[in-house]
Amino acid sequence: MKRSTIKDVALAAGVAVSTVSRVINDSGYASRESRQRVLKAVEELHFQPSRAARSLATGRTGTVALVLPDITNPFFPALARGVEDAASAAGYTVILCNTDNDASQEAMYAALLRQQRVDGVVLTACSPNNRGLWSQMTERIPVVLTDRRLEGAIDETVFVDNVAGAYLATRQLLELGHRRIGLIGGPLGLSTTEDRQRGYEQALREAGLEPDETLMRNGDFRYASGYARMRELAEQHVTAVFAANDMMAIGAIRAVEDAGGRVPDHIAVVGFDDILLASMIKPGLTTIAQPTYQMGVMAVDRLLERMRTDATGEPRQVVLEPTLVVRDSCGGKGRGS
Ligand code: RIB
Repeated sequence: MKRSTIKDVALAAGVAVSTVSRVINDSGYASRESRQRVLKAVEELHFQPSRAARSLATGRTGTVALVLPDITNPFFPALARGVEDAASAAGYTVILCNTDNDASQEAMYAALLRQQRVDGVVLTACSPNNRGLWSQMTERIPVVLTDRRLEGAIDETVFVDNVAGAYLATRQLLELGHRRIGLIGGPLGLSTTEDRQRGYEQALREAGLEPDETLMRNGDFRYASGYARMRELAEQHVTAVFAANDMMAIGAIRAVEDAGGRVPDHIAVVGFDDILLASMIKPGLTTIAQPTYQMGVMAVDRLLERMRTDATGEPRQVVLEPTLVVRDSCGGKGRGS
């Protein structure tokens, strides 16, 4: 059956095409009689306005972009679930852009999204190098950051208190009697990496320990880097390690075991994120839980607000609370699964 067009509706209703466009997009004036005639024709002809037709009339595309750095890391699909549920509840389609932790890939997506005309962007940046590109984009469409800040570029952000989370992780190890506590930090240049190192150092200093650079390393938030950094720290005779995310913490546990050691008996390990795997592995991973799903939902709420107000309001930094989840990988009392 031939698909009805906007012209067919106009003909059947005896009005101009522009009147039909105003009625179906609820934008601009149309008399009550014209509105009734158009809606009757739409129903009789089973007319479905195309996305392009809607977009032309309202300037909206009904689409938001979600730009993430690494969809192979379970943290990000959990964030995406919150974004998707909140966006679709508000009638928006989400298009996913995975930058694969590659700054040039992220720059390509920034250029593409400027042309593709999305209504808004939820962004977890993989590199501070593209802050100018994203800042330019906010001149035309709202961008809300999740998880990581981009100082001097975009202020609308939803993220967890990473300093407090890392402080809790390190203090847990201190309270279990550890004094040579290694750090496997994230990639340099990210606010999550800087904040988690700050929380680690804060807890050490509060316990009268000066942070020791020889016990501090940086990974790339992936399993293999956690494994490699753990082998290096084992040579420094650490008795515990705080890894700045769960994938690196899981790599660290495997490195201890492959070297013939046991977690937590030989080396205690604490991670950050509380991805699903953390409770599935043996020993269960002690970690810092992020309200990841809620982060995605709140980012969309902020984005919808910015879209509604044409980004005129004051940008906000929404900071969420982290929680310590104790399992077997750190040793000590109250160990869960
Ligand atoms: O695991 C990926 C990490 O990147 C998470 O800790 C998240 O906070 C992001 O910074």
